[in-house]
Amino acid sequence: MKRDIITVADLTDDELQSIFQRAQNFERITVQERRSLRTKLEGRQCLLLFYEPSTRTRLSFEVAAKTFGMEACVATAESSSVVKGESVEDTAHTCGALGFDLAVMRHPDDGAVAEFAEHFPAPVINGGSGRSAHPTQALLDAYALWKRDLLRDDLRIAICGDVLHSRVARSNVRLLNRFGITPLLVAPKELLPDGFMQKAGTSDAENLQAETQHNLDNVLGELDVIMMLRTQLERHGGLVLIRPKDFIAGYQLNMERLEKLRADAVIMHPGPVVRGSELTDDVMEDKRTIIVEQVAGGVFVRMALIDLLMQQK
Ligand code: CP
Repeated sequence: MKRDIITVADLTDDELQSIFQRAQNFERITVQERRSLRTKLEGRQCLLLFYEPSTRTRLSFEVAAKTFGMEACVATAESSSVVKGESVEDTAHTCGALGFDLAVMRHPDDGAVAEFAEHFPAPVINGGSGRSAHPTQALLDAYALWKRDLLRDDLRIAICGDVLHSRVARSNVRLLNRFGITPLLVAPKELLPDGFMQKAGTSDAENLQAETQHNLDNVLGELDVIMMLRTQLERHGGLVLIRPKDFIAGYQLNMERLEKLRADAVIMHPGPVVRGSELTDDVMEDKRTIIVEQVAGGVFVRMALIDLLMQQK
């Protein structure tokens, strides 16, 4: 039976552990042992359908697929017939007829990837849908924590910045909750309104757990991990929800705030980073920052997920 990964809720607890172990295994094989995996899925076809810009997700899926010997075909909104009015459903039927073995899709609308998956005959992985979900980002973030033995229920992790518009924040809350972790969401009221958590789930049945806090300086010293988020202006509808100088004053991670973080704290960011907004050059150069490691791990986590889905196909 084909499996689609639209949110992390589509993976069992055993599968989550299996993904981390497989990712670590692929990392060892390709980086340390320099062995080739190109015959593993040789000749299979992977569709990368990206209706929003992407550097990390699209390229790491492409690298992951090609490391297994798959062919990878990329289509963007501008280069596809969506600009002529073709619907998501018809696009799925069209791409399905072309014989792809797997699709990764990113789309600006919350439900579009799930709709595509309903009509596509092979497994579909959500590469980021609207504000609602970015499951492989959460998986690669968790992989970085798992490797440090930090994925335990007493982890004190803050997710800070434009929480309201962030699919990364939602997917991370969803996944961290699976490990008994209650993250702390930190943002100004404009980007973390009252009642946010009640509306953050993808369904009424989803009961996401997070604490909220509007004052970053009050919590910096107690954190094991801080994950900074970009202000996602493309989802603000042209409105100025908070003045940049007010956001910087209250929430930018900079030299002054770095000094309040513990020496063993971990600094994360899903990327892309906007230097001078949510963080400064000092943060990028700080030894506690693992942003590049997150990106590298993303390839192995996506290889692990492809491997899992293609075995079950
Ligand atoms: N983190 C992330 O999804 O980055 P891209 O938009 O570059 O894929």
